[in-house]
Amino acid sequence: MTRLSDSLTKSLDKTKIPVHVAVIMDGNGRWASKRLLPRSMGHRAGMNALKEVVNISGHIGVQHLTVFAFSTENWKRPTEEVSYLMSLLAEFMQKEIDELHDRDIRINILGDYKSLPLDCVNIIEKSLAKTADNKAMNLNIALNYGARLEILKTIQTIAGKVLNGELSIDEIDEECVSKLLFTKDLPDPDLIIRTAGEMRLSNFLLWQIAYSEIWVSESLWPDFKKEDFLQAIFDYQKRIRKFGDVNEKK
Ligand code: IPE
Ligand code: IPE
Ligand code: MG
Repeated sequence: MTRLSDSLTKSLDKTKIPVHVAVIMDGNGRWASKRLLPRSMGHRAGMNALKEVVNISGHIGVQHLTVFAFSTENWKRPTEEVSYLMSLLAEFMQKEIDELHDRDIRINILGDYKSLPLDCVNIIEKSLAKTADNKAMNLNIALNYGARLEILKTIQTIAGKVLNGELSIDEIDEECVSKLLFTKDLPDPDLIIRTAGEMRLSNFLLWQIAYSEIWVSESLWPDFKKEDFLQAIFDYQKRIRKFGDVNEKK
């Protein structure tokens, strides 16, 4: 820990650590082009930022960390970039899995990962199995994830259940929808962080973030450090969350 991160950590209210933090890791390409490097190098540098954020989240007691790694819209990118991202993901899982496991971190994937290349699917499934019983923190990786895809699949499942008589229309409530999303076992995010200064959600967790606090960093993702993350938590703790009511809801 640096002196700054140490003092930031100490200044946090331990009783108000967000249970679920979601991160849109953006700006890898810009980080690389600023250095006249290929975009792939930006993605590689971004992997170190991810490790740092996973470590600090576990350290301060975040229970669920969700990171947006690849969106359903990212398939529009050049084939070489998509392949590089897939191989990087496989590399991350292979290299980091033992350490993640030692830290008692459970891996969970949000999204349609089964349509990824077979070697990726195999590595992912090994990581899921190995860490399945871990308890310290859930690392949810949104991979081939799109909120609209998630909501569409849910609508299809509900329509199927209504058609075969398993569910009546009156029984379709918020809980019923939430339980069918990729995030079915997770609480909604308390805080959503986006890097690289972009003020948009890019099809991320649209149902789940109805009442999440939003925090945008100007830092490009590979430059995002544990101090930035701690600052986000510190600022979050000063937000007044009313959920539509008049007074703060604790
Ligand atoms: C985020 O960085 C990584 C992914 C979307 C996979 P970008 O690759 O989007 O970086 P910019 O936005 O082009 O700088
Ligand atoms: C969002 O970033 C997706 C991920 C971080 C994986 P993008 O870079 O794809 O988002 P847009 O295209 O700028 O909205
Ligand atoms: Mg981007």
